[in-house]
Amino acid sequence: MNSFMFVVQRSRGMPLFVFIFLFLFSSISPSCGYDPLDPQANITITWDLMLDNGGTYDVRVSIYNFQLFRHVERPGWKLSWTWRGDEAIWDMWGAEATQQGNCSRFRGQVLPHSCEKRPEIVDLIPGAAYNKQFANCCKGGVLTSMTQDPTMYFATFRMNVNKPSSDNNAIYFMPLNFNLGLPGYTCGDAFEVPPTRFREDGSRRRTQALETWNVTCIYSQFRASPTPKCCVSLSAFYNSTIVPCPQCSCACQGLAGAKCVKPGETPPLLELPHANEEEPQPLVACSRHMCPTQVHWHVKQSYKEYWRVKITITNLNFVKNYSMWNLVALHPNLRNVTQVFSFNYQPLNSYANINDTGMFWGIQYYNDMLLQSGPSGNVQTEMLLHKDSGIFTFREGWTFPRRISFNGDECVLPPPDQYPTLPNVAHSATAMPSILFSLFFIVLVF
Ligand SMILES: *[C@@H]1O[C@H](CO)[C@@H](O)[C@H](O)[C@H]1NC(C)=O
Ligand SMILES: *[C@@H]1O[C@H](CO)[C@@H](O)[C@H](O)[C@H]1NC(C)=O
Ligand SMILES: *[C@@H]1O[C@H](CO)[C@@H](O)[C@H](O)[C@H]1NC(C)=O
Ligand SMILES: *[C@@H]1O[C@H](CO)[C@@H](O)[C@H](O)[C@H]1NC(C)=O
Ligand SMILES: *[C@@H]1O[C@H](CO)[C@@H](O)[C@H](O)[C@H]1NC(C)=O
Ligand SMILES: *[C@@H]1O[C@H](CO)[C@@H](O)[C@H](O)[C@H]1NC(C)=O
Ligand SMILES: *[C@@H]1O[C@H](CO)[C@@H](O)[C@H](O)[C@H]1NC(C)=O
Repeated sequence: MNSFMFVVQRSRGMPLFVFIFLFLFSSISPSCGYDPLDPQANITITWDLMLDNGGTYDVRVSIYNFQLFRHVERPGWKLSWTWRGDEAIWDMWGAEATQQGNCSRFRGQVLPHSCEKRPEIVDLIPGAAYNKQFANCCKGGVLTSMTQDPTMYFATFRMNVNKPSSDNNAIYFMPLNFNLGLPGYTCGDAFEVPPTRFREDGSRRRTQALETWNVTCIYSQFRASPTPKCCVSLSAFYNSTIVPCPQCSCACQGLAGAKCVKPGETPPLLELPHANEEEPQPLVACSRHMCPTQVHWHVKQSYKEYWRVKITITNLNFVKNYSMWNLVALHPNLRNVTQVFSFNYQPLNSYANINDTGMFWGIQYYNDMLLQSGPSGNVQTEMLLHKDSGIFTFREGWTFPRRISFNGDECVLPPPDQYPTLPNVAHSATAMPSILFSLFFIVLVF
């Protein structure tokens, strides 16, 4: 659910300030993975039946990451489905099944690639044998978000399938129960869509699939992890208080199951996961919030027409390097971003003309990898924003972000009443009890 919050503040002799900002009630429903910052977000699997020659058929399977800022990192996707009959995969290009399974019914012939009832398919790693490649394959299961790299957000493989033995001629069956093998994603049923059309001969000729089916998969942060994985701390040049991440944002130190590494202690030597292995549980530095990632938002400077923010992302996880990380921030002044240093930046316009959300990510080979906890385990940027004279203010925590997400997962923000305040404002607020606050919540039903 998502709503707009209008805060109208009036005080004697003061101009009327109208702050309009998007506010989230982070009660994200676990059943629908709806993300208000990216309402259409989904990963779509497209199943194109390319040819059918009686006994076997060819399918081209594509996985499109239609998400603005959530990406798929190593160990990558692991696509699986359940065959309706005793189909077997004869051969595959651009990916491979992890198990060949029991192919003993094909004894005496060349054996199929996989005879599993529920095959698990993984991408090939870059540099795979040339005769096993397929266009857009071989990215080690990694898919970038649509914003970060428009050439890397999809993957394709092709396979030749043996029809079920009971039904050797015409009909072929769409398999069931697709799964991407990624935490937090659930896939719906396959549904038939208009056949995909392909360009040939420099777009002068169009061919098309015999049949095309789509499967849509949706992410739910709650399903991926019932506890948050990131938190936000705040500070400002006009106040020496650093507002820390809320206590127990991600876990509580000392509680059962919450392991952490104390300062000065060296983390136990860990065996790093091999390609295609599960990601290890985070092992974090001990802190009051116990989050693997911390984002610090510092209001650094105020100029006549501009103000400057410094954002630092710190990795507190000893067992993970975040490749292709990204950060999404929501702040009303982001529509007047003038310059962003040392990060890539792009506004996200999920709601057409409200330019209050932006995505930050690292510059390739410079800071696109957020290294594991330690002296190099952080990345930082500064940005310059043009003060919008109608709404800009240092009061009421206006300069702090409304929402932050790291790698597509919402970060826990301190409660607004703890934000660093202007020294004189705290005083005048108590001296002027006649200040009126009006709050309107307009709940938008999508
Ligand atoms: C099916 O997926 C493709 C992308 O693979 C997309 O272009 C198309 O719009 C989808 N069709 C439907 C009806 O959702
Ligand atoms: C998936 O995302 C794409 C791109 O945003 C969108 O066009 C499509 O309608 C979405 N599909 C579904 C089923 O929501
Ligand atoms: C392998 O499949 C054959 C025939 O499909 C079956 O007879 C045999 O029991 C299976 N073996 C195992 C170990 O499941
Ligand atoms: C992270 O990267 C550094 C430098 O490339 C490497 O030494 C370290 O082993 C990596 N850590 C993990 C958990 O992959
Ligand atoms: C606002 O959104 C428009 C349209 O997407 C974009 O061209 C423009 O650069 C954005 N401005 C800022 C300051 O983000
Ligand atoms: C800030 O952005 C808004 C919307 O693009 C524009 O109307 C306004 O003039 C900008 N303000 C400044 C100070 O650039
Ligand atoms: C700084 O902000 C904190 C937190 O809101 C507040 O308690 C404190 O009074 C402020 N310090 C000064 C000097 O105003």
